[in-house]
Amino acid sequence: MSGADHPGEHDLPGNPDLAGHNALGHPAIGPRPLSRTRSFTRRGGRMPRTHQAAWDRLATEVVLDVPRPLGETSTVVDPSYRLDPVDVFGRRAPLVVEVGSGSGDALVAAATARPDWDFLALEVWRPGIGHALAKMEQTAGAPLPNVRVLEADAAVALRTLLAPASVHEVWTFFPDPWPKARHHKRRIVSAEFAGTVLRLLAPDGVWRLATDWGDYADAMREVLDAHEGLRLASTDRAPLRPVTRFERRGLAEGRSITDLAYVPA
Ligand SMILES: C[S@@+](CC[C@H](N)C(=O)[O-])C[C@H]1O[C@@H](n2cnc3c(N)ncnc32)[C@H](O)[C@@H]1O
Repeated sequence: MSGADHPGEHDLPGNPDLAGHNALGHPAIGPRPLSRTRSFTRRGGRMPRTHQAAWDRLATEVVLDVPRPLGETSTVVDPSYRLDPVDVFGRRAPLVVEVGSGSGDALVAAATARPDWDFLALEVWRPGIGHALAKMEQTAGAPLPNVRVLEADAAVALRTLLAPASVHEVWTFFPDPWPKARHHKRRIVSAEFAGTVLRLLAPDGVWRLATDWGDYADAMREVLDAHEGLRLASTDRAPLRPVTRFERRGLAEGRSITDLAYVPA
């Protein structure tokens, strides 16, 4: 498996951020911030030249510059920093937060299809963001005004970044599957993360998830069905979810795709 397939899984060992989290001691971060996993150091990462060029042209407009108390290479956003979508997007519109946007397939397709919605993607893998920016340029010829990307560990940042009940939809499409049993604790969908998402959802909001790993789908159902604040509303394919290479590959390898949509109970 190349870094391009499940990049987040390559970013974990020996990350100095963990000590930094503890040093911060902020209730949103420490003292044991991430039982799921360690946080991620932002990787400069080598990008193909076209992606780097798109980054150079578009990043100042699309990639958010936020305070990072542990330094510029950290994916930890200052927990006292609040992102105001009206300020960022210049309007009030339904907000979609995508967790782990990867190469931006869903992000660019959906933002193009729904110019009346705003899209905030959180991604730890910088080359993926470069790829998404290149895709955006190819598709729209310019930065999409309704898209912003934040290089951040969503599991930590979403605890504090946005106001409660301010998000229309949260998307977690094909999260890193961590297929080995001893790595399951690193999966992003957990009871703790469910609490984080629930806090963000508007009363009529939706958390949409998709995975091609049957046992991850089962684990999602187990954790989210048991969450008293959430209710399973649908197992239909998410309306704006395009076919990405993760879906294609899962199907090619004999796995089936599970879509889940949870709403506040
Ligand atoms: C398997 S890829 C799927 C990408 C995309 N959602 C798709 O369907 O094509 C998972 C992505 O989640 C990102 N990721 C993993 N953990 C993350 C976290 N805690 N915060 C933000 N992004 C994360 C990885 O870097 C990777 O790009």
